[in-house]
Amino acid sequence: MKKDFALIGIVGCGKMGRIYRQVFDPLCDRFVIVDPRAADDRETRPYATLDDVPGDLFNRVQVWCICTPTENHFKSLETILSRNPRVRVIVEKPACLSFEVDSFQALLKKYREARVLINRQYADSRAVREMVSALTRYDVEHIDLIRMEFSKDRRPDIDAGRFVDSHFGVLGYEWSHILTIIQQLLSKDEWATYRDMPSDLQATFDQVQFVSELEERTVLPSETKIELRSSMRGKYEFNSFMPYDQLICHRYIEVTAGALRFRLQLEPRDETRFTGRLFENHFRIEDGGDVVHDSTILDPFLPRFLQLTLKQLFLPECPPLDWTPLERIISTRNSLRSHEHHQPDLVSPAKPGLEGGPD
Ligand SMILES: NC(=O)c1ccc[n+]([C@@H]2O[C@H](COP(=O)([O-])OP(=O)(O)OC[C@H]3O[C@@H](n4cnc5c(N)ncnc54)[C@H](O)[C@@H]3O)[C@@H](O)[C@H]2O)c1
Repeated sequence: MKKDFALIGIVGCGKMGRIYRQVFDPLCDRFVIVDPRAADDRETRPYATLDDVPGDLFNRVQVWCICTPTENHFKSLETILSRNPRVRVIVEKPACLSFEVDSFQALLKKYREARVLINRQYADSRAVREMVSALTRYDVEHIDLIRMEFSKDRRPDIDAGRFVDSHFGVLGYEWSHILTIIQQLLSKDEWATYRDMPSDLQATFDQVQFVSELEERTVLPSETKIELRSSMRGKYEFNSFMPYDQLICHRYIEVTAGALRFRLQLEPRDETRFTGRLFENHFRIEDGGDVVHDSTILDPFLPRFLQLTLKQLFLPECPPLDWTPLERIISTRNSLRSHEHHQPDLVSPAKPGLEGGPD
């Protein structure tokens, strides 16, 4: 059967790049892989750098997917667009480093015929949508408290050679997802207010990864409290209600409104992702402590969102990029950086390649 795409390029074929390949495999005949580490893979015969891909092959790639460590996203995009100014590109989150945002935006203006989208799969999570629609169904007019934790013990991954985000630290991993969900729980105006508000931050600074644990507390003018948490150290604070088969990543969202409590636990069966109980999420509503709703939501939202993004790249009106979550991440990072310098006992040492950078 003829597939929709003849050739898709993947730059960076580690954890995320391999997922892209698996997700796009039913849609695409062939892949061009660029990854210096995968050079000895005989099956895919990858290129070590984008510059090594011959011009005729390069020009036939319909979509490039940038899944390198975040610090290489911008450079990869720049190279791709300079070699093919009309190509389509999906960039993994977060789009780029703090000091590259202006250059990234300038690049998009320069190459107006190109189409670039950033992956933000939680914008299309059915579980999150069910929570949002339950708030409407229960006539919630005022949210008292939003608590969200996305924590994962990243030490085994890092020991195995997975990339380390020493620029954003913990803000570079799950925080984009957390903000994509907050954006859906708040009204447009509240999201705008939240983005500009200072927050109370509690951080654990780390010698290598800048910040390895972060808790952010904010009170909106409407008196809605927001508590966000992410840890890379295997410490989980916000309660789960479903037992984990094997705890890999704790993803928990809770909204309280009066006596009502809406609770989502995402993917407690995480390790079966691409085998068994795919993307199983649990949604519970409690009223005065009594469970009044308990459901399981099966939703392979990551593959679905990536395939949707692929299609959107070819629509006459490709959706505009939303920079607001990354802007919030950058302002939080800036607060942490100033905090870091006021707490000598917690200050992380100079990081090679980043100190003296333009930020
Ligand atoms: N959306 C999500 O849920 C999600 C999940 C994981 C990672 N990510 C994002 O994906 C990106 C990659 O993360 P990962 O976990 O797959 O990392 P990884 O360490 O598993 O893989 C990165 C790969 O990129 C390769 N690489 C490094 N520099 C390169 C270059 N200049 N050109 C080509 N290849 C290069 C490395 O050799 C490695 O194989 C990060 O930006 C991360 O934030 C997103």
